[in-house]
Parts: sequence; C-alpha cells; structure tokens
Amino acid sequence: MRTVPVHVIEHPVVHDALVTLRGADTPSEVFRRAAKRISLVLVAEALRDIPTENLKVHTPLYPPAADGRRIACGVVVVPVLRAGLGMLDAVLELVPAARVGYIGLQRDESTAVASQYYSKLPARLDSNCILVIDPMLATGGSAVAALDLLARAGARAIRVVCIVAAPEGIAAVEQHHPDVAIYTPVIDQGLNAQKFILPGLGDFGDRLYGTT
Ligand code: PRP
Ligand code: URA
Repeated sequence: MRTVPVHVIEHPVVHDALVTLRGADTPSEVFRRAAKRISLVLVAEALRDIPTENLKVHTPLYPPAADGRRIACGVVVVPVLRAGLGMLDAVLELVPAARVGYIGLQRDESTAVASQYYSKLPARLDSNCILVIDPMLATGGSAVAALDLLARAGARAIRVVCIVAAPEGIAAVEQHHPDVAIYTPVIDQGLNAQKFILPGLGDFGDRLYGTT
C-alpha cells in the first residue's frame, strides 16, 4: 500500500503541453513555454487545498461588498537547480507573494548519484506550505536529497511537483519521506541503464537551456 499521496493530474492542457515536452524535435524556446504552461496547471492543482481566509471586498459599485477569499498561509517554493527553474515563473505568477529557496543538485553522469552544490533557504519554513519543483523524478535521489535538506531546515508541510515521474523515484520518496505529497501528470514505465526515464523526455535541463 502507498504511504505517499501521489496525485496524478489529469487535464487537457497538461496532456497537450506534455506531448510538446516529450517531442524530440521541440526546440528550446517552445520547450520553455510548454514547461511554464504545464507547470501553471500542476501548481494550481498542488495548491488546491491550501488554507484561505474569508474577507469582504468593496467593488467600484458600492454597496454592497462582495465576499472573497485570500490565501492564508505563507508559500515557499524551492526549485531544484537547474531544471526546476523552468517551473518557477509559473509558481510566482500564481502566488506572487511566495518566497523562494534554492537547492542546487547535480547527478553524476556515470553513477546518477546526486550531489549538492548550493542551497539558500528562507527562514521560518515550519509555518509555511513548501512546494519543491523539479520536473524529473527519476531515481528519486535528487528529490530525497532536497527533502532531507528541507526537513533538517525545519520544513514540515512539503509538496513535490514534477512533470514526469518514474516508479523508482516515487518509491524512493515513499521510503524516505512518507509524509510528502507528490503531484505529477504521469508515471512513466521506468529507468534505462543510464537512469533516464523511459519514455520520458530526455534531459530536461539540457533541453530547457539548449546545452545538449
Ligand atoms: C535532473 C532533474 C532532477 C534529477 C532527477 O537534474 O532535473 O533534478 O535529474 O534525477 P534523479 O531522480 O535520478 O535524482 P540534473 O542532475 O541532470 O541537473 P540539471 O537540472 O542541472 O540538468
Ligand atoms: N533527469 C532528466 O533530466 N531526465 C531524466 O530522464 C532523468 C533525470
């Protein structure tokens, strides 16, 4: 039985953008736009149940005031460098007041083991909703390393948003951080010998930044 809540996001816009991202011939500029487009929907879904507070707002046509709701918790978004940066604009468009922390992780090309080269996190993580954004959940090594770091820094309510997940990556998060929710549009078949997701979309960071 699963302990990690895995939310598979079903939406026509998500499917449409994912096909663009997967396509081998998609150029970087189109890839970047599709990454933002898919992230807008995924992040909106990942934030669906965050707390809100009721308020009254005066419209230009007074009276009466209209009832409204505002986000009532702090949101901290943590892109995992580099590829997570391709999802950051979407979060800041949806939650302009979000604070941003950065975690730099790089997979070794031969072992696929992630090592950390940077981190800068905001204070008071414990009272905030934390969104980790990293498009590829492959072995899960990067996600687990990011989650370990955040847990040590006091983060509690953490959600991971990715664009393609492998069963191996989900299992790794499940084993090490059973209280973390995962939001993904798809769970792919698995990993190849080089620990790339199949069918996947290739190296997200390279495709986003044209470094292939
Ligand atoms: C990619 C991706 C994830 C990681 C996933 O980053 O953005 O962070 O691999 O793989 P894992 O689940 O096996 O750890 P990469 O290390 O290639 O760095 P980059 O984002 O700088 O390209
Ligand atoms: N990182 C990527 O960018 N793609 C994969 O398939 C696996 C890890």
